[in-house]
Amino acid sequence: MSIQYKFPDGFWWGSATSATQMEGAASEGGKGLNIWDHWYATEPNRFFDGVGPETTSDFYNKYKKDIQLMKQIGHNSFRLSISWSRLIPGGEGEVNPEAVTFYNNVIDELIENDIEPFVNLFHFDMPLELQDIGGWESRRVIDAYEQYAQKSFELFGDRVKKWFTFNEPIVPVEGGYLYDFHYPNVVDAKRAFQVAYNTMIAHAKAVQVYHSLNVEDGQIGIILNLTPSYPRSSNPADLKASNICDLFFNRSFLDPAVKGEYPTELVQLLEEHGQLPETEVGDKELLKNNIIDFLGVNYYQPRRVKSKETLPNPYSPFMPDWFFDNYEMPGRKMNPYRGWEIYEKGIYDIMINLRDNYGNVESFISENGMGVQDEARFIKDGRIEDDYRIDFIKGHLEWLHKAINEGCNAKGYHLWTFLDNWSWMNAYKNRYGFYSVNLETKERTAKKSATWFTDVSTNNGF
Ligand code: BG6
Repeated sequence: MSIQYKFPDGFWWGSATSATQMEGAASEGGKGLNIWDHWYATEPNRFFDGVGPETTSDFYNKYKKDIQLMKQIGHNSFRLSISWSRLIPGGEGEVNPEAVTFYNNVIDELIENDIEPFVNLFHFDMPLELQDIGGWESRRVIDAYEQYAQKSFELFGDRVKKWFTFNEPIVPVEGGYLYDFHYPNVVDAKRAFQVAYNTMIAHAKAVQVYHSLNVEDGQIGIILNLTPSYPRSSNPADLKASNICDLFFNRSFLDPAVKGEYPTELVQLLEEHGQLPETEVGDKELLKNNIIDFLGVNYYQPRRVKSKETLPNPYSPFMPDWFFDNYEMPGRKMNPYRGWEIYEKGIYDIMINLRDNYGNVESFISENGMGVQDEARFIKDGRIEDDYRIDFIKGHLEWLHKAINEGCNAKGYHLWTFLDNWSWMNAYKNRYGFYSVNLETKERTAKKSATWFTDVSTNNGF
């Protein structure tokens, strides 16, 4: 078989998930409550089909078998997250020994099976007690996070060499403080910017702690969902709209993480509108001195942007979307089973941007994937024939391959996700896994894409 798209030696092949979405056992093993447990208990109707995070895909009890399934499909790496409220119930103070045993077991099992653990610290799952004292708006929560990060490095850092501080930090900002799809359901741009800023301060503190440990072969980074912002046209108003969108949704995290500072244009814009967050002496230096070693890039879809058709009422509360409108570009390719645009070249554009404007920072694709509703309709002879997912992955890998050939520093590809998992408000609506999960029995069945991906990872290309 000839391999047309061969990837560099040592390329990371695998998949990603997060604690709340996969572990289940939300009230087992001494875990404390997080905002998802709480929000579900108070407003179950906001979750698709009324399904909450209690059991999800039961990785907590099935991790051994699941790791065998990963091995069977050629994974050499896998990203999981630690649940803060499992490790430190309440978010501050004593570590929960049952959680330490669980994560030790998972990490050891991965390593025994030659699967490199990539471990993320925060994937949307704020301990409830910390949310109650202000969540990311509070400096005390930043201190608590720093302790949590330090504890995690101490407990697991002898074996885990790839660390991430946050997954998609923009999402809790958008969901929790701008557009009402995450708890605490606040809609207030000024508070949103404070949350975004404090998250990056927490991030920089974790990077600082990790670097102070001088782990020779260890790396720490952040995972950002980069959504390239494409203007409707090259007319100046559309270009400006797209640039501002990029500043808010990409560069507000990418620049401080990789360059150690915020884009001047963003700071000026917020200042002009009285939206600058509160800062403390020493923050600037902290950010400057603690840039990442590598970057996880989550890519699902781009943003198409046009200038505003009507100017916002200056007396309405400030929102980022004062400056741009989404543009529904005619003829764009859509995922008919999820409603998101599919634009494979976006992955290439992201990589070229990192190469040219971000010092070619080492990176990898930490999430990319295709969500499908009612996926059971594609079952034939007992397995899901997800050719659409194979095409989706292939299309993105082709562009990633081209970027690498052009000198981009991309080191791996992780699919979202290993097995169908629970997703925030959408619960099990959109399925993404290489393995399907029967929600009643929790039985796992490989989809066609799992078989295809086994060849890709085994051959280091396709
Ligand atoms: C990603 C998140 O952006 O989108 C995941 O990191 C999430 O946590 C995934 O599950 C898919 O989201 P949805 O809403 O299609 O299920």
